[in-house]
Amino acid sequence: MKKAEDQILIIFGASGDLTKRKLIPALFELYLQNLLPKKFAVIGASRSALSDDDFRKRADEFLPDDEKAAEFKKMLFYQAVQNDSADDLIPLKERLETISNSLEIEKNYIFYLSTPPSLYPVIPKHLCENGLSKSDKYFRRLIVEKPFGTDLTSAKELNKQLLNYFEEEQIYRIDHYLGKETVQNMLVTRFANGIFEPLWNRRYIERVEITSAESLGVEGRGGYYENSGAMRDMLQNHLLQVAGFVAMEPPVVVEADAIRNETLKVFQSLRPIKENEVSRFVIRGQYTSSTIAGKKVAGYREEPGVAKLSRTETFVALKFFIDNWRWAGVPFYIRTGKKLPTRVTEIVIHFRKVPHHLFGQEGSQGNNQLIIRIQPDEGILLKFGMKTPGTGFKVQTVNMDFHYSDLADKKVPAAYERLLLDCMQGDATLYARGDAVEAAWKFVQPIINAWDTNPEIPIYGYPAGSWGPEDSDKLIGNGKWRYPCKNLSNDGLYCEL
Ligand code: BG6
Repeated sequence: MKKAEDQILIIFGASGDLTKRKLIPALFELYLQNLLPKKFAVIGASRSALSDDDFRKRADEFLPDDEKAAEFKKMLFYQAVQNDSADDLIPLKERLETISNSLEIEKNYIFYLSTPPSLYPVIPKHLCENGLSKSDKYFRRLIVEKPFGTDLTSAKELNKQLLNYFEEEQIYRIDHYLGKETVQNMLVTRFANGIFEPLWNRRYIERVEITSAESLGVEGRGGYYENSGAMRDMLQNHLLQVAGFVAMEPPVVVEADAIRNETLKVFQSLRPIKENEVSRFVIRGQYTSSTIAGKKVAGYREEPGVAKLSRTETFVALKFFIDNWRWAGVPFYIRTGKKLPTRVTEIVIHFRKVPHHLFGQEGSQGNNQLIIRIQPDEGILLKFGMKTPGTGFKVQTVNMDFHYSDLADKKVPAAYERLLLDCMQGDATLYARGDAVEAAWKFVQPIINAWDTNPEIPIYGYPAGSWGPEDSDKLIGNGKWRYPCKNLSNDGLYCEL
């Protein structure tokens, strides 16, 4: 693998949780694997007055107490910055000069925005005004954390503002689901195997189901979540991106624009859900208090920062169609929620039944399913019918499975490792492009509008620890959602309570 050029990573919002929990551990992992550039430094920047040492100490919580970590921490620096005017960035600019000169690091910079979203347009403007956003000799890149806008208008506006200061090729919009190994493996499963792709279309696939369940609730993020909800927090970004990988046409090459063009085409083919159709296609829910394994669990409205009569959805199930040649008439279903029985993200491809039931009803155990498990117990499971030993032709469903953990010498890398490394190498394949983000917002916007303006659209309560509102099952018509367990090969309604 080619090494990334020497560079400095500047993290705005460095005193926040993401930096210590995800970014620093991911960088350390890259360091351990010798994947960081030869000459490299990280400058944490935020309003807090911290010293380099304070910043390094904060990192300790998520790093081992060993020699390697001590060496790694020498690359970490900190600079307090305000963001009120362009001049506020002068101390950072000077610090960049000093560090790059003293450590002889080329002036290639990545600016990572991990701040409150209100600063997403502000910092790039100040960077530009200080001459830091462009250079003839060095690269300048900008990583923008989620949320990318809170609706279609704000996402468009943010794109417009960023493009005033940076070129699209310099902008890396994070969607950490694209950094997940198993999401990327979807491309390999589909396009490196002769057996799947010929079946991957309306002729052989009856429906596609994507579930992303979380057993945790909002975990102290009530204030943020109140203005977000499952639709904005998970579906508009992570799960539509996953759907994009499931549904895309084969890209011509594995390169950023080739792949992102195909995802965009999927989003552009999403059949719009009109505001008056929302109740037929979307079910929303909110968890209520319940008792799980003998312990009382608070409902969403009892969480700190949540309004007593909140109508924010903590669960959403959606049915939609992709109106193109490959997928005409095939329903796609996405379901996500907090406080569900287990943490699992998976894609289920339901193949059509055989045209004639040769072995009678007894023989037809249902459709073949291909289950692609994104987390946990990452892997792939194929369900198909086999003859039960004995007299007659009784067919039973059996599993053929592959677990990533069987590749024992390989640890599945964390999403941020892959994404940070890609940006350091200038590869935006696994980052969302501006036009695709807008297309995804365009699709979900009428749903959000309908919820905001029609109080009669129900928000169903579901007991914490259940699989969400019962009405979400009705979306599927004759079928049922798969109720997955932690272990890929098992399923069952309440297996992990
Ligand atoms: C984040 C959401 O983007 O993704 C969280 O804001 C959610 O609410 C998280 O819990 C899920 O990510 P993962 O990687 O744990 O599936």
